[in-house]
Amino acid sequence: MALAYSGGLDTTVAIHWLKTKYNAEVITVTVNVGQEDDFEEIEERAHKLGVLKHYTIDARSEFANGPVASAIMLNALYEDKYPLGTALARPLIAEKVIETARKEGCDAIAHGSTSKGNDQVRFEEAIKAMAPDLMIIAPARIWGMDRGSEIEYARKNNIPIPEVHSRFSIDDNLWTRSIEGPELDDPLAEPPDDAFKWVVNPSKVTEPLKLDIEFEGGIPMAINGERMKLPELILTLNRLVGGHGYGRVDHVENRVVGFKSREVYEAPAALTLIEAHRDLEKLVYTPIEYRFKRIMDQTWTDLVYEGLWHEPLRLELEEMARSMNKWVTGTVKVMVRGGLTILGRSSPYAGYSREIADYVKGWYPSDEEARGFINMWTLHSLTAYRVRWGNGLS
Ligand code: ARG
Repeated sequence: MALAYSGGLDTTVAIHWLKTKYNAEVITVTVNVGQEDDFEEIEERAHKLGVLKHYTIDARSEFANGPVASAIMLNALYEDKYPLGTALARPLIAEKVIETARKEGCDAIAHGSTSKGNDQVRFEEAIKAMAPDLMIIAPARIWGMDRGSEIEYARKNNIPIPEVHSRFSIDDNLWTRSIEGPELDDPLAEPPDDAFKWVVNPSKVTEPLKLDIEFEGGIPMAINGERMKLPELILTLNRLVGGHGYGRVDHVENRVVGFKSREVYEAPAALTLIEAHRDLEKLVYTPIEYRFKRIMDQTWTDLVYEGLWHEPLRLELEEMARSMNKWVTGTVKVMVRGGLTILGRSSPYAGYSREIADYVKGWYPSDEEARGFINMWTLHSLTAYRVRWGNGLS
């Protein structure tokens, strides 16, 4: 069977457990979506546990140019806060594991998700869509061990477990660093500073950082005039913006599995790019487009978060978003200092006309035109108002 192997405690214990319980030949697949891991060490650990084969698949640029690019074009912030990092990566990881399973003639796929999270839904939806004939095994839903018992199990069975560098359980990729841990379970408790790695404490930032972000067709192409490929641009912004104290997210999130959880993230590039992108869309789109696009954004984001990657509407919304984003070309100026401030924007497709809008020299409709407009614009509402509450005179 093929195991989606992150190299962490759960999936490391899972190798041994699958071999013992199912007598399985295990092939491990580690997909690099930009997480800060030592992939050689992960491979070594897999071999020490006697896997039949191990694959490390570099999917960084596919991740950036696929799901992440869509997330930018669709301003994806779940419940206005979470840039979806983990959710965006799961279907791609599943796809890579499935491809490997096919190549190796596996009859089952295993993943490390528990029964409490959204990730199980995302993995299994993808497997059911792309490889419905493959059996799905989720050891962590079956074995009933908590973290302590897993460590105990590992010790008893001589399993080389990864050194625990931090008190937190981290899922990271180039877009988002998701932070979990018992200290964060009280929604009122302030997260300790050492939970964070990408974003310095905003209260410590003294120097402001100014950035020009250039977009072409909805995709960021350059920072301060320097053109970069998307993965590099994201890493650069994570470093620069995170270094100036912007990008921490702390909120109570509605999971798909029926309960609220306190979630903490770091996503400096994601938050900056989405805010800048949305600003540029507002400059370019008609109000009708802008209003409709917000509904598209939210619907797409909810589908991805909720593990419905293969819902046809997800793809259809992306096609329409790409088409609308043809016009989202231009530059947004921002300043970062423990927060983000937009300083200005421009686009060759701006729907903004200085000739009309200029306060002094701009266009002023005549008194008669304005009165006529206001009469008709308010007619529906005021007709109903009068019917219900009289003419307003008492
Ligand atoms: N709450 C987020 C989500 O559902 C992040 C989950 C983090 N996942 C993890 N395996 N640590 O997408």
